[in-house]
Amino acid sequence: MMVCEYKPGLEGIPAAQSSISYVDGQKGILEYRGIRIEELAEKSTFLETAYLLIWGELPSKEELEAFEHEVRYHRRIKYRIRDMMKCFPESGHPMDALQASAAALGLFYSLRDLHNPAYIRDSVVRLIATIPTMVAAFQLMRKGNDPVRPRDDLDYSANFLYMLNEQEPDPLAARIFDICLILHVEHTMNASTFSARVTASTLTDPYAVVASAVGTLGGPLHGGANEEVIQMLENIGSVENVRPYIQDCLERKAKIMGFGHRVYKVKDPRATILQKLAEQLFEKFGHDKFYDIAQEMERVVEEKLASKGIYPNVDFYSGLVYRKMGIPTDLFTPIFAIARVAGWLAHWKEQLAENRIFRPTQIYNGRHEIPYTPIEQR
Ligand SMILES: CC(C)(COP(=O)(O)OP(=O)(O)OC[C@H]1O[C@@H](n2cnc3c(N)ncnc32)[C@H](O)[C@@H]1OP(=O)(O)O)[C@@H](O)C(=O)NCCC(=O)NCCS
Repeated sequence: MMVCEYKPGLEGIPAAQSSISYVDGQKGILEYRGIRIEELAEKSTFLETAYLLIWGELPSKEELEAFEHEVRYHRRIKYRIRDMMKCFPESGHPMDALQASAAALGLFYSLRDLHNPAYIRDSVVRLIATIPTMVAAFQLMRKGNDPVRPRDDLDYSANFLYMLNEQEPDPLAARIFDICLILHVEHTMNASTFSARVTASTLTDPYAVVASAVGTLGGPLHGGANEEVIQMLENIGSVENVRPYIQDCLERKAKIMGFGHRVYKVKDPRATILQKLAEQLFEKFGHDKFYDIAQEMERVVEEKLASKGIYPNVDFYSGLVYRKMGIPTDLFTPIFAIARVAGWLAHWKEQLAENRIFRPTQIYNGRHEIPYTPIEQR
């Protein structure tokens, strides 16, 4: 019998072969289908990038227009889903609301025609189109308001910000938000993607695949770090407090939020792009001290921890961007999910193309041959 070494968290063990995205953590490179994210952030849109990831190639003009058109006209959610969401407690976390709503979609579209390209396409369109509507609807309903109907004349990101704030967004803010979605859409074999692929491998429906990935993304070790960055910046409160704060973290061996990465040992390329976006936002909508605090943090952490390969990660600047846009902190992770759903769907499709159900093994370390003790003798 082959003896396998046990690796907690399956660290370093390939769970799939994939051509969707690639990371070089030493050089700070991230590619989607071979294209560097810097180029996509500059020239592409979220929907075009989603198409690239899911279907493997950049779409032609006609293909992109057809995809955008389909997504635009599938944004509305069924009134029964809206009514179901109205029953959710307003104190509940929006990620739990999103997971339940994504799973509920499967009740309405229960066909599992996984070999039919039209079924795959419809499911992709429906999920990418309705997830933002569900996030915005929960946000409004928990404040006691009716959800806002999607606007067919607005692009994907502008429409989401409109549904969230009940007003048309500034074009720069909408474009920056769209770039944030591009930067969060995919990142190789992380926990939620693995979860999506395991669920996909049972040949269940794509709504269950996305719901299980949303549940996995919700944890603080995965999608939730950008919320904690904002908390930390607020606690620090001023540029003068940065150095003592970092010193204190290092003495207590506490992790500084928004820094360090399992794969990147240089600055996360997404953080570099997000920092520039944050600068543009602050320039247009007014400077605030949190950006100065963040800059000072980056300087001091680099001085103290660059030798360990600790630099800002994607979560360090994304929270700052969303905060400046007036987005509530507990929506940061649902927004991450709005983007990542396209990555999960690309992995769903790739998994189906060469499926083998996930069935790892375990190393049993329990007891054997234990007699059953009657309840009155326990
Ligand atoms: C992301 C993270 C879990 C990566 O962890 P990892 O790959 O296991 O990194 P390691 O724990 O091996 O780090 C190596 C060293 O750097 C230190 N380090 C790593 N991240 C650090 C951080 N954010 N602040 C301070 N020190 C840090 C570790 O304590 C360790 O020091 P040691 O060698 O003296 O023990 C970790 O950096 C972290 O918790 N960061 C903060 C949370 C965060 O921003 N998460 C979002 C990730 S996208």
